[in-house]
Amino acid sequence: MSKRSMFLLIFLAFLGVINAQTIKSPNGDLKMDFSLNKSGTPVYSLDYKGKKVIKPSTLGLDLKDEKDLIDGFEISALNESTFDKTWEPVWGEEKEIRNHYKELEVILLQKETNRKMVLRFRLFNDGLGFRYEFPVQENLGHFVVKDEKSQFAMTGDHTAFWIPGDYDTQEYDYTESKLSEIRGKMESSVTANISQTSFSPTGVQTSLMLKSNDGLYINLHEAALVDYSTMHLNLDDEKMIFESWLTPDVRGNKAYMVAPAKTPWRTIMVSDDARDILSSRMTYNLNEPSKIENTSWIKPMKYIGVWWEMITGKSSWSYTDEYKAVKLGETDFSKAKPNGTHAANTKHVKDYIDFAAKHGFDGVLVEGWNQGWEDWFGHSKDYVFDFVTPYPDFDVKEIQEYAKSKDVEMIMHHETSSSVRNYERHLDTAYKFMKEYGYNAVKSGYVGDILPRGDNHYSQWLVDHYLYAVKKAADYEIMVNAHEAVRPTGLARTYPNLIANESARGTEYQAFGGSKPNHVTVLPFTRLIGGPMDYTPGIFEMDLSKLNPDNNSHVNSTIANQLGLYLTMYSPLQMAADLPENYNRFPDAFQFIKDVAVDWDKSIYLEAEPGDYVTVARKAKNSENWFVGNVNGLETRTSKIEFDFLDKGKTYIATVYSDAKDAHYKTNPQAYEIKKYRVNHKSKLSQRSAPGGGYAISIMEAEKSEAKALKKL
Ligand code: NOJ
Ligand code: CA
Repeated sequence: MSKRSMFLLIFLAFLGVINAQTIKSPNGDLKMDFSLNKSGTPVYSLDYKGKKVIKPSTLGLDLKDEKDLIDGFEISALNESTFDKTWEPVWGEEKEIRNHYKELEVILLQKETNRKMVLRFRLFNDGLGFRYEFPVQENLGHFVVKDEKSQFAMTGDHTAFWIPGDYDTQEYDYTESKLSEIRGKMESSVTANISQTSFSPTGVQTSLMLKSNDGLYINLHEAALVDYSTMHLNLDDEKMIFESWLTPDVRGNKAYMVAPAKTPWRTIMVSDDARDILSSRMTYNLNEPSKIENTSWIKPMKYIGVWWEMITGKSSWSYTDEYKAVKLGETDFSKAKPNGTHAANTKHVKDYIDFAAKHGFDGVLVEGWNQGWEDWFGHSKDYVFDFVTPYPDFDVKEIQEYAKSKDVEMIMHHETSSSVRNYERHLDTAYKFMKEYGYNAVKSGYVGDILPRGDNHYSQWLVDHYLYAVKKAADYEIMVNAHEAVRPTGLARTYPNLIANESARGTEYQAFGGSKPNHVTVLPFTRLIGGPMDYTPGIFEMDLSKLNPDNNSHVNSTIANQLGLYLTMYSPLQMAADLPENYNRFPDAFQFIKDVAVDWDKSIYLEAEPGDYVTVARKAKNSENWFVGNVNGLETRTSKIEFDFLDKGKTYIATVYSDAKDAHYKTNPQAYEIKKYRVNHKSKLSQRSAPGGGYAISIMEAEKSEAKALKKL
């Protein structure tokens, strides 16, 4: 828009002549209409290629103890602009990301109260983001948000992939249903968790994946969740309108604001091709560039851990069974009788370090190394861990030296037990201790109900805490992988030391009764929209009674599916979660986990359908090697892929790890095949995946002579 027409717009808006404005995405596929209705309430709607995505929906905020910011607005200015810049992430699915959008800034004035509110819309080729802003002004300094009233009016009874709205956990299996069926399916979808607070029979979490009857894929989420509470969505299932539902604190308040302030972005991605939802980088683009200047210490990692054996109940985090309660500083562990199942002991950890060194892993995580695990949750205990005092059988110094001699990084574990104030008290000491003993990455966790008591995992105070821990970690050059923290909203762009989160139902639930076999075909469309997940793949023994006779859980997945996860569940931090002894039983399949990269120059989603399948090809960072991964849903499926992403004129050797003919996630999960082929950019593959199965392919550049003996694909 020229300067002249901009001035004209502002002038007309000033005269009250302009009450509406339309903007289009850079490629013209999306159209966003903005207007004020008769009551002076902001209204927006969204179209994609001529089809309605969001019907006219109102915007506003209900405030505590003062007039709301919902109606009585006039437009004082409308400013349009275009942005187009390409940036390089520190790690990621590709080496460059284009940030290209049209922006509409709507400056609103509520005459009656003389308060200003700005609505900022950014329209990308893959979706819309909008947020509320509150500039510094006389009549709006401090204010408390009672409710945010952002609406998302659906055009019909879409299919939704949803988990129950909850202030404390995201660790649910996804339910696929029509919007009209959410209410009826809510009760059975709320499965048990150590800390949980659901709030409405039609409340769901974001990122929410939807599919319309006319073939549109729509994703609702938020970006840049900073100093505000987490957004859920509540459905009016008669009108089919979602409305934002913020997470309250113990007083029921949603957010405490001080101008200048802004809300996170509310995001609506849309496409007629499901693959575009997975390759969209809109969430990152709506976050600020990196605030960490020197990022050379942030490194993607593949790791193993003293972990699965505790999750399955084969071993314990705790050192003794003698004490039912621990008082840190008073309980004397040197006098306690060891329980014989404590896995975090020096000898055992050294075996893991040896295994990591032998097979080329970057790191080893050890859980249960510090005192306090005897009564670590369920007691609302404040001083539960100090994060610096090891059990008598864990020699920090000896382990540090041994790991160093083997060129293996140790990964620290901080379970906070949700005693968050206690964690903040110890944070500096804990990070200093890490640096002293050579740890550059920490896995943190927030199991159980929050302390200060009564607060919720996703309230504003907790959202602030998770970021505080990440920022402080950056001061110490520490990478963070936070479990049970709020689900990500693209903040890893701004703080790339946030290398992963769990914040969803990860592999651990396969040991707690099992997850749906197609869970992993939904996660990329939901949880991963905000950032990488420490899903902890790589389980080869699905019958967990083999590890612990008292655990009759079954891992609902095939080995080939587990391999595919290293590609489909993108993360710069990838674990090989099973026990070394199980990898030793299947060395040929394990080879794929050893070979696969964790950082990428390019990613191409080849096939995708939420709930059914995801297939992606990725080119390893600074390398000519490619890796392909597929995960499959409930039905047997043959995937047809082309290798046209390969460089013309080059020859490669492809090793295909797939389900054997009779493989099945339940009855025959360990049946896999490995085949080698000669491939080039003209090759095509037709590959069958079993129910709950998948495949993984490594494609390595080769000399023609090397590949000659192999069958051509
Ligand atoms: C839950 C985490 O997700 C899991 O990985 C961890 O082992 C336990 N908490 C104990 O901290
Ligand atoms: Ca967890």
